[in-house]
Amino acid sequence: MHRAVCPGSFDPVTNGHLDIVERAAGLFDEVVVAVGVNASKNRLFSADERIAMLTEACAGWDNVRVDGFTGLLTDFCLAHDVHAIVKGLRAVSDFDYELQMAQMNSSLAPIETVFVPTSPEWSFLASSLVKEVATFGGDVSGLVPDFVLERLTARLAEREQG
Ligand code: PNS
Repeated sequence: MHRAVCPGSFDPVTNGHLDIVERAAGLFDEVVVAVGVNASKNRLFSADERIAMLTEACAGWDNVRVDGFTGLLTDFCLAHDVHAIVKGLRAVSDFDYELQMAQMNSSLAPIETVFVPTSPEWSFLASSLVKEVATFGGDVSGLVPDFVLERLTARLAEREQG
């Protein structure tokens, strides 16, 4: 069984993330989408909300499941018999940091990192930009699943009122 992990914060999941998950699911027997739930003050959605959105978004793929993790990604991989980390690369600028993390992770455990080039249509996409554009009323439909757009719009409206 070749099992891989697609890790991330997914705050919220975008179509760019789902492109990488789908393609990883074609390469590996099983893919675990691992939502990092380490404490951070800057999240728009809670860990449970992010996991719920991913679970809904990945429901159509039989060999994909969603889980949360705290602590080191390599510890999660060892505990779940995962031997590969799949990361999307949007641009050369992603590469420096991703290479550093891949090398650090492989120094911690015998786990390979596999880089998958993001499809060109999503190469500009980042959760942080989606949130910023949506905050100022920009149209982000088509960049995230429709149900994520609904929750994003609702959360930003709550924030505006609160
Ligand atoms: O979507 P993000 O924010 O780029 O995801 C980053 C994530 C969660 C994949 C990364 O921060 C991570 O792996 N965190 C777990 C802690 C860890 O293992 N740190 C050492 C990385 S070399």
